[in-house]
Amino acid sequence: MAIDMDKLNAFIGQFVGDLGAAVHAGMVVIGERLGLYKALAAHPMTSTELAAKTRTDERYLREWLASQAAGGYITYDEKTNKFSLTEEQAFAMANEDSPAYLPGAFQLALGSLAAVPRIADSFRTGAGMGWHEHDDGVFHGCEKFFRPGYAANLVSSWISALHDVKSKLEAGARVADVGCGKGASTVLMAKAFPNSRFFGFDYHDKSIEAAQAAAKKEGVADGVKFEVAKAKEYPGKDYDFVAVFDCLHDMGDPVGAAAHVRSSLRDDGTWMIVEPFANDALKDNLNPVGRVYYSFSTLLCTPCSRSQEVGLCLGAQSGEARMREVITSAGFRRFRRATETPFNIVYEARP
Ligand SMILES: C[S@@+](CC[C@H](N)C(=O)[O-])C[C@H]1O[C@@H](n2cnc3c(N)ncnc32)[C@H](O)[C@@H]1O
Repeated sequence: MAIDMDKLNAFIGQFVGDLGAAVHAGMVVIGERLGLYKALAAHPMTSTELAAKTRTDERYLREWLASQAAGGYITYDEKTNKFSLTEEQAFAMANEDSPAYLPGAFQLALGSLAAVPRIADSFRTGAGMGWHEHDDGVFHGCEKFFRPGYAANLVSSWISALHDVKSKLEAGARVADVGCGKGASTVLMAKAFPNSRFFGFDYHDKSIEAAQAAAKKEGVADGVKFEVAKAKEYPGKDYDFVAVFDCLHDMGDPVGAAAHVRSSLRDDGTWMIVEPFANDALKDNLNPVGRVYYSFSTLLCTPCSRSQEVGLCLGAQSGEARMREVITSAGFRRFRRATETPFNIVYEARP
C-alpha cells in the first residue's frame, strides 16, 4: 500500500484542528460560566488582572488564556502581556444579545457528548434516548444557541416570508409553538405581537418550567401559556398559526404530529416548520454545516425519535423532499420553502 505523504500530512493537519476543537468546547463553557469573555471584552488585561477581576485562580487562568489565544478566540499582545477581545470576538463571545452569540453551541456540544457511552451501546441495541434523559447542558445550551438566531430572523424575516401571517399576528391571533423547549421562540413572538395569544407546548417538563420562568422575566406571562404536552396531543383548536422550531425531526411520529397540527389549525391557518438547513442528497450535505448537524443528530435527534412511538428517525438532515412527503401525507395540500438561512430552512404548510 503506497501512502501519499502529502495527503497523510494534510489529514493529520485536519486532525490537529479537530482535536483542538473537541477540547475547546470545554474551554468555552468554562470561559462563559466564569464571565471571562465578558471581563476581557470590557478591558485588555494580564492574567493577574483578570484573575483579580473574576476572582479566579491565576495559574488556571493563564493556561486557559493561552488555549484561547492559540485558538483565535481571544487576542494576545506580547508587548503588554495583556489579553483582549477584538470587536468581532466580543460580539460573538461576550454579547448575549448578539445574533452570533456562540457559547451556547459549545454548551450544547458538551452536554450531548455526555451521552456518548449510552449512544455507543444504542448502536448495538437500537434503543432510543429521550430529550429529557440528557445532561442539562443540552436544554440550556440549545436555548442559548438557538435564541440569538431566532431573535435575528424570526420576526423580521421568517414570519414576514409567510403568506398573510404577520398581519394576523399584529391584529390578534391564536398561536401554538409546539416542541417549544425553553420557550425562546414563544417569548420573542409574544413580545413582538402583544395582541396575539400564545400557547407553548413541549413534552419535557423541565423545559416548560424554564419557559414559564422566561415569560415572567420578559414580562409577557399574561399573553403566553406554557403547558407540558406531546405534539400529537396538545390541547386547543382553531389556532391561526402553529410553529415548530427545530423539533419535527426529533419526534417519533412526525406524520402523526403533522396530522394533529392540521386538526388543531383553522382552515385558513398556517403551519411554519423551521428545520436545520439540509439538501436532499447526502453528497450535498457533506460540508461543515452538515457535519455539525449529522453529529448532533447521532447524539440527540435520532435517539430522541427512536425513543418515541413509530420512531421514524428523520434525522436533522432530512431535506425538503422528505419534509414535503411527511407534511403533505398528513393532509396539508400546500407546502413550500418560504425562506432560509445558512443554518435553517423555513417551510410553510397550509391546508
Ligand atoms: C432541539 S429542541 C428545540 C426546542 C425549541 N423548539 C427551540 O428551538 O429552542 C427539540 C425539542 O422537541 C421536544 N420534543 C421532542 N419530541 C417531542 C414530542 N413528541 N412532543 C413535544 N415535544 C417534543 C423536546 O423536548 C425539545 O424541547
